[in-house]
Amino acid sequence: MAVEKKPVKITETILRDAHQSLIATRMTTEQMLPIIEKMDKVGYHSVECWGGATFDASLRFLKEDPWERLRKIKDGFKNTKLQMLFRGQNILGYRHYADDVVEYFVQKSIANGIDIIRIFDCLNDIRNLETAVKASNKEGGHAQIALSYTLGEAYTLDYWKDMAKKIEDMGANSICIKDMAGLLVPYKATELVTALKESTSLPIQLHTHYTSGVASMTYMKAVEAGCDIIDTAMSPLALGTSQPATEVMAKAFEGTEYDPGFDENLLVEIADYFKPMREEWLANGLLNPKVMGVDIKTLLYQVPGGMLSNLVSQLKEMGAEDKFQEVLEEVPRVRKDYGEPPLVTPSSQIVGTQAVLNVVTGERYKMCTKESKALVAGEYGQSVLPVDPEVRKKVIGDQEPITCRPADLLENELDKLEKEMAQYKKQDEDVLSYALFPQVAMDFFKYREAQETGVDASLANSENKTYPV
Ligand code: CO
Repeated sequence: MAVEKKPVKITETILRDAHQSLIATRMTTEQMLPIIEKMDKVGYHSVECWGGATFDASLRFLKEDPWERLRKIKDGFKNTKLQMLFRGQNILGYRHYADDVVEYFVQKSIANGIDIIRIFDCLNDIRNLETAVKASNKEGGHAQIALSYTLGEAYTLDYWKDMAKKIEDMGANSICIKDMAGLLVPYKATELVTALKESTSLPIQLHTHYTSGVASMTYMKAVEAGCDIIDTAMSPLALGTSQPATEVMAKAFEGTEYDPGFDENLLVEIADYFKPMREEWLANGLLNPKVMGVDIKTLLYQVPGGMLSNLVSQLKEMGAEDKFQEVLEEVPRVRKDYGEPPLVTPSSQIVGTQAVLNVVTGERYKMCTKESKALVAGEYGQSVLPVDPEVRKKVIGDQEPITCRPADLLENELDKLEKEMAQYKKQDEDVLSYALFPQVAMDFFKYREAQETGVDASLANSENKTYPV
């Protein structure tokens, strides 16, 4: 009797997460376009190519309009769905936006070519996902909700099952397990996927990073347990802090019921296209061999790879590199105090910076950033466990934390934003670039104008600070 075929579907990440994770999101549109026609023939479930940090990096460092990039990519992919990463009510920025901005961003993303929007919240507060999901449904997009995967006493299988059920009820089209730190080990993946399959009939996708060295084994166990889709990156930008390699996973499933049926020679041609770029990135230092290895500390301290390198650079700036180990040990304590949030943008930056301040000042919570206070005050939403009451008092004093959906307190802001940037507007989407990164977008608009009028553009190119990966 023939075995029933259940080919695993594959999302290719080389145009988004892979280069964000390995080379600080510096791949240019020009580097992407020549290979798209071939990538379109592979048979990918989708290609992740937009969102996350690509938007900021395009405007800030590459002096590219991210919307123009999206339209060019869409022109090339005639048969493959395009996917983006979206931070719920934070969109692609670092604060909460009013609903009108979230709705308009979703509308324009889909209008410019996005098919699948992967939406997550750094606290797994699903109230922060509602507006984006509704907007995607309205525009005919595929709304995928991502569970920000993490470990801790609150994160039982029942917790994830309950969240999956709520996601299905909310009207999402699929669920992603988003394991940004590579914490999901193979046999736990079996348990988790099996549990989710019991509580929802939505397709399940798994996204992980190779940081801790277990990712390809985790994919295999997850697929065997019924996971429908996995995220991989073509080998020149795979492994390390990126995803497992596409060619390797396709080969691993070859001849089995999960065989994705990809053309090996086509994959080789695509890999060959990116290989010289890899050499160039290694030569110019953009690709640091340090991020290519296994970092077992990520499992010990449950800290995503990108966060580790941020902590190192923060300590360097303060001349306190010798405090790295102390900070590493402080991170889980701060996380516990703050109600055990997953560590993903922006909670990872907030908890990481607080841990640095706690260690460097020599007194815990003596100094807190604005974002740290906002997190404790409930302005990012609700943490899964309550914030430690004593810590809360130290951080925000007698201020009463908010308990409603944070965006309920925000007035619509599109009109105001439109007015502020009207003189630079060349397309409807510009107001959204400005909403997310006001200063960076403004610099870009000036640069663009200078390019068009032939005036010396170097004046407009002022911002060039280090970008947090
Ligand atoms: Co990722």
